[in-house]
Amino acid sequence: MIMVRSESEVDGEVEDLHDSISSDYDREKELKAFDDSKAGVKGLIDAGVAKIPRIFVRPADELKELRLQGTGNNLKVPVIDLGLPSSGSQIELEEDKININRCNPEEILDELRRASEKWGFFQVVNHGIPTSLLDDMLEATRRFHEQPTEVKMEFYSRELMRKVKFSSNFDLYQSPAANWRDSLFCVMGPDPPSLDELPETCRDAMIEYSKQVRRLGFKLFELLSEALHLNPHYLKDMDCAAGHIMLFHYYPACPEPELTMGTSKHSDPDFLTILLQDHIGGLQVLHQNHWVDVPPVPGALVVNIGDLLQLMSNDRFKSVEHRVLANCVGPRVSVACFFTTHLHPSTKIYGPIKELLSEDYSPIYRETSLKDFIAYYDSKGLDGNSALTHFKLSNLTESMGS
Ligand code: OGA
Ligand code: NI
Repeated sequence: MIMVRSESEVDGEVEDLHDSISSDYDREKELKAFDDSKAGVKGLIDAGVAKIPRIFVRPADELKELRLQGTGNNLKVPVIDLGLPSSGSQIELEEDKININRCNPEEILDELRRASEKWGFFQVVNHGIPTSLLDDMLEATRRFHEQPTEVKMEFYSRELMRKVKFSSNFDLYQSPAANWRDSLFCVMGPDPPSLDELPETCRDAMIEYSKQVRRLGFKLFELLSEALHLNPHYLKDMDCAAGHIMLFHYYPACPEPELTMGTSKHSDPDFLTILLQDHIGGLQVLHQNHWVDVPPVPGALVVNIGDLLQLMSNDRFKSVEHRVLANCVGPRVSVACFFTTHLHPSTKIYGPIKELLSEDYSPIYRETSLKDFIAYYDSKGLDGNSALTHFKLSNLTESMGS
């Protein structure tokens, strides 16, 4: 737990800390050595490091911020009961077969609307995916990351166009400090990789979970369309659910969690994210200037609005910044499903939805293609700034005027 301390106390601490870390280091060289090891952060733990390498140490101003911030303990991320029946492994593929039979549909829409407008983040229960499958998926993720490095290395890559790859810090060479996290990345839709492209240790769970999470995504896009007072198929027709990428994250226990982050502050570059987290905790969202915990709820999934849905909804729905603290009790495992078409971006043009605009409600963003949006996000890395700023019309006028 982070204690709130006085500013001068913290200044002293952060100075001492940075004095103790030698400043003469060749960052590029150390990044390269870490990358070349192909063993990720887990490889450092396996080698028995007692101190974190300097490439992981956050800049001094950020460490100060991290120590000063209290958590908004009295604020709670909404939990929404979707009232969907749990599907067994034989899931029906026709979406209309899902019916909301336990809760009042109007109430669910109101809750989803409020949560997407105010928080941009919520948890869902009774979402239709069996808890046993969630457990299998987390276990399979752990198995992948804990298999011998030689086997994992085969998947290590930074190639943009690769569908299945293992790496640590996709933005290793761009970000100010590396994150204490490894990830397996797979583009699972619209065309899933063939069986032999997927790692053997986890492929069964990946395929089954991917099917079911896609189905839940379809349902959520219908509900979110309705929450925006649009026809239920609107967001699906805009290809928001046409593809999904899955990231299987592993956050090893960290010997010095106060000096680094599991995932630094960012918002997601997609339409919507469905996240499965284990019991360890550490995920926080920025709400009313407070970092609020997203506590693990057994059987629940975390859902958040992505940048592209904020852009399309013209800021009605919020793509909120979030982060994961490094922990000393891990490993922590999570599985993020990003709804976006990545390797073959949809050719649709995305801008504020016309039906949502009026004389008093003019567009805040310019239109963009997914390709341009993703290229911009990737070139920037997780630098703590929202990619959306770049697409604001006000910025365009300013730069044209100057
Ligand atoms: C992400 C993310 C959170 C987590 O993958 O974008 O925010 O808990 N993950 O791993
Ligand atoms: Ni995220």
